[in-house]
Amino acid sequence: MDLKRSIESVKKSFLADVEKFPTDPQEQELLRVRYFGRKGEIASLFQQLKDADPSDRPKFGQQLNSLRDELSNAFKEISGADDIDDQADEDQRIDYSLPGFNFSTGSIHPLHQILKEIKDIFISIGFSVAYGPEIDDDYHNFQALNIPKHHPARDMQDTFFVDDNTVLRTHTSNVQIHLMENQNPPLRYIVPGRVYRNEAISFKSYCLFHQVEGLYVDKNVSFPDLKGTLELFVKRCFGDDVKMRFRPSFFPFTEPSAEMDIWSESRGEWLEILGCGMVDPEVFTNVGYDPKIWHGYAFGMGIERIAMLKYGIDDIRLFYQGDLRFLEQF
Ligand code: PHE
Repeated sequence: MDLKRSIESVKKSFLADVEKFPTDPQEQELLRVRYFGRKGEIASLFQQLKDADPSDRPKFGQQLNSLRDELSNAFKEISGADDIDDQADEDQRIDYSLPGFNFSTGSIHPLHQILKEIKDIFISIGFSVAYGPEIDDDYHNFQALNIPKHHPARDMQDTFFVDDNTVLRTHTSNVQIHLMENQNPPLRYIVPGRVYRNEAISFKSYCLFHQVEGLYVDKNVSFPDLKGTLELFVKRCFGDDVKMRFRPSFFPFTEPSAEMDIWSESRGEWLEILGCGMVDPEVFTNVGYDPKIWHGYAFGMGIERIAMLKYGIDDIRLFYQGDLRFLEQF
């Protein structure tokens, strides 16, 4: 029978080859492939099995299996290899000439980068960081800040109402009230957070944006302290050559009030980055601080504005679209 003879001759030539087993690893590999490779001698015997008389198949199948076991054990023993199959070998084969994989690393969102800078600057001059609720009652967002219901100042901030008495905060100033309600002066905080306004969406406004509130309460706090602190901040943030100006302004919760503008070279115009002022005595009264003893200043800056100035971004919507072509630049 053909197959029987083939089995014997494979076995014989294998034993002869193993007799003079090569020391060179490459030759050893050739030998392995010759017998155990996917197109090797043993594989082709299995191929022939298909053509064998069906009644002979079980017998030859068994013989082939034990031949394979016998030869592969012998090969493993003499070569010291753990495995002789092509498959396993391919898994382990590495083509060192292939280019490597690129793992894409994420980047920190520009707003977060700016926020970190702002926090670091204020922390370095003694401020602590606090947070407060984004959904708040009308009292903390408005009334305690000296903005009663139906006051025209409410028109400055188009409000999203959750219900009659609950709002998405229109500014981070609500946290001024929470901080002062919960602790005694002196205090010195910055409060980063998200705020919401129901404005028509365009290149310069979005329905949400970010602010950093500042609140400093102590004895003998004066307007020059506020001005000095903000000037220092702006210089550290934009560099010593920054062009800035204070403009008198109005907020119901500060008196006097001002706004600060930064000159934008790229646009050729002043851009407002924050509102500020001395805490109105009425606000102190609302939180139970004695306005004859305590003075304070507060400010609220727009993070998007600062980021736009610093990076020359001209459309606020870019911050919220998650477009990698934009984000990968930071
Ligand atoms: N809350 C004001 C705004 O959002 C900014 C501000 C904060 C002004 C603190 C004065 C003091 O417009």
